[in-house]
Amino acid sequence: MFRMVDIIEKKRNGEVLTNEEITFFVNGYTDGSIPDYQASAFLMSIYFKGMTTEEQGFLTMAMVQSGDQIDLSAIEGVKVDKHSTGGVGDTTTLILVPLVAACGVPVAKMSGRGLGHTGGTLDKLEAIEGFHIELTEQQFVKQVNDLKLAVIGQSGNLTPADKKLYALRDVTATVDSIPLIASSIMSKKIAAGADAIVLDVKTGEGAFMKTHEDAKALAESMVAIGKQVGRDTMAVISDMSQPLGYAIGNALEVKEAIDTLNGVGPEDLTELCLVLGSKMIVVGGKADSIEDAREMLKAVIADGSALDLFGKLIEAQGGNGQIVHEPTLLPTASYQINVPATSSGYVTKMDADDIGIAAMLLGAGRATKEDTIDLAVGIVLTKKIGEYIAEGDTLAVIHSNNKNVDRSIALIQNHIIIGENAVESPALICEMITGH
Ligand code: URA
Ligand code: CA
Repeated sequence: MFRMVDIIEKKRNGEVLTNEEITFFVNGYTDGSIPDYQASAFLMSIYFKGMTTEEQGFLTMAMVQSGDQIDLSAIEGVKVDKHSTGGVGDTTTLILVPLVAACGVPVAKMSGRGLGHTGGTLDKLEAIEGFHIELTEQQFVKQVNDLKLAVIGQSGNLTPADKKLYALRDVTATVDSIPLIASSIMSKKIAAGADAIVLDVKTGEGAFMKTHEDAKALAESMVAIGKQVGRDTMAVISDMSQPLGYAIGNALEVKEAIDTLNGVGPEDLTELCLVLGSKMIVVGGKADSIEDAREMLKAVIADGSALDLFGKLIEAQGGNGQIVHEPTLLPTASYQINVPATSSGYVTKMDADDIGIAAMLLGAGRATKEDTIDLAVGIVLTKKIGEYIAEGDTLAVIHSNNKNVDRSIALIQNHIIIGENAVESPALICEMITGH
């Protein structure tokens, strides 16, 4: 029998723990037999001493086994999941689900809601009237077998250990530990049934990982965990020093996703979807090379089949699929207000965080879990970093229902920095981590 105090001491001294010790901790903390004070001390020792890849794999699987696991074995083919560490105006999931499914990879997507200034895929989909995300596990599996795609909300008792540990980390200053983040994210993907995982690790001002080094370390940890536990995992490190695309806000991002599936979306958003989508197709076994996969994706955009499939997804889950051809059917805000540039010059900086907060103030996001969101409101930017704008020209358009408009305008004007000298636009794809 283990004693928690010995396990804490071992990690405090920088030693490597066994699977049995880590599992003892996860089970004991989940069932309440290990108290918060010991778990806190243990988390802090991990924060300072780190964990080997092997230990992270043990922690991941112990958290997976702490609750229900979604059984997707009735779905034929490799089930590929995609995860983003969270960005502002990041509409990629909405686009990737039909895009990749149209190439034959089954997409059984479990998504979450947004909190703070980053949006959640479920909220965006609920901007489509009638769309519901409550499917039973059987309906979910059947829809993926019939149509190749389905999106549901987190249901059941997935990774309760992670939920409890995350709440404790939040109040003990142990959230930003790479081994803890990596195992937390991977445990949720694996419990949701993923055979293979494509990760989009964001870096920059608007991201959880502010520096490239941290983003790279997190990506490498997750790819290594995937390898350790037998799930093919790849990661892309992508820029979040400015919002992705132009639209931030739920219905506005659905419209942007439709544009992208139509081949007329923003360049950065389109490119990121092609990069992530081609990895999903390769790990899903539908193409041998990234180049072939990319051609397949472009083809299903060009012939309209990806957009059609998005319409079918919407129909299957209770919405009006016609929306993909008539985005004017989406909810709209009462007012559109142009935000002018206060000087002439080049956009040199655009803090994604602050723009996200400006959208949240309008009602597009939740400050607390209990807040309700206004699906119609948000911001549509007109510029990217590196572009020129003249004083008085429109920097952004606010879609508003009359909430916090002045504060939102001030945030946009203060946090999109206009300078005299041209700057280069930041590279969208910083690095790929494949682990081979
Ligand atoms: N997101 C997660 O899911 N887990 C973490 O630990 C941090 C971010
Ligand atoms: Ca966007």
